[in-house]
Amino acid sequence: MRRKLDKSRDGTTLVIATHNQGKLREINELIEPYGFAAVSVGELGLPEPAEDGTTYIENARIKALAAATASGKPALADDSGISIDALHGAPGIFSARWAVDKKFGPAMERVEEELAWREALTEPKAHFVSALTIAWPDGHMEDFEGTVHGTLTFPPRGDHGFGYDPIFIAEGQSQTFGEIDPSIKNAMSHRADAFKQLAAVCLE
Ligand code: IMP
Repeated sequence: MRRKLDKSRDGTTLVIATHNQGKLREINELIEPYGFAAVSVGELGLPEPAEDGTTYIENARIKALAAATASGKPALADDSGISIDALHGAPGIFSARWAVDKKFGPAMERVEEELAWREALTEPKAHFVSALTIAWPDGHMEDFEGTVHGTLTFPPRGDHGFGYDPIFIAEGQSQTFGEIDPSIKNAMSHRADAFKQLAAVCLE
């Protein structure tokens, strides 16, 4: 049976199982209107579990369950990434690992180099995916997956957002996720898509 977050049983604090400040900011904005306050695993001093799953949902489950078990509170995790058609879906679940010292300049350069090598630099198609999992301390979990499709552009543009945002132009937009107002990204992103599904099942 699907489970909702119940404020009288679960409280109004949601543990957010991420050490990524960009994700934390976006998730905070998504949960606030529902009366939940975020506390991150970083603030609670909880360790990062090994993300050794083979899908976004497996990795989101690993992070959410570890945080819920350690904190004794419901925890929300996002596992996400970008899949590039001409690179057969890479970097996908390895998106964070293409960064060098957590910097995404080199990751975006690598994408451009790999596309150039394949002569695939003309409006390359890509999509972001976000898997969101809520885990409760008793082990129950609810999972949702969202996507946003678009094309890539080089060189990177804009300093809003995080990760690969400066090279991604969502369908119907002319500016990158790094250039558009964050409120527009937050209404149409892969994370927003997954969160809408989550809200319909677990929050409303
Ligand atoms: P994770 O923390 O292992 O899920 O790694 C996700 C990685 O995917 C991030 O570090 C970013 O590089 C990338 N990513 C996920 N969502 C976004 C987004 O909304 N914008 C830009 N990059 C993203």
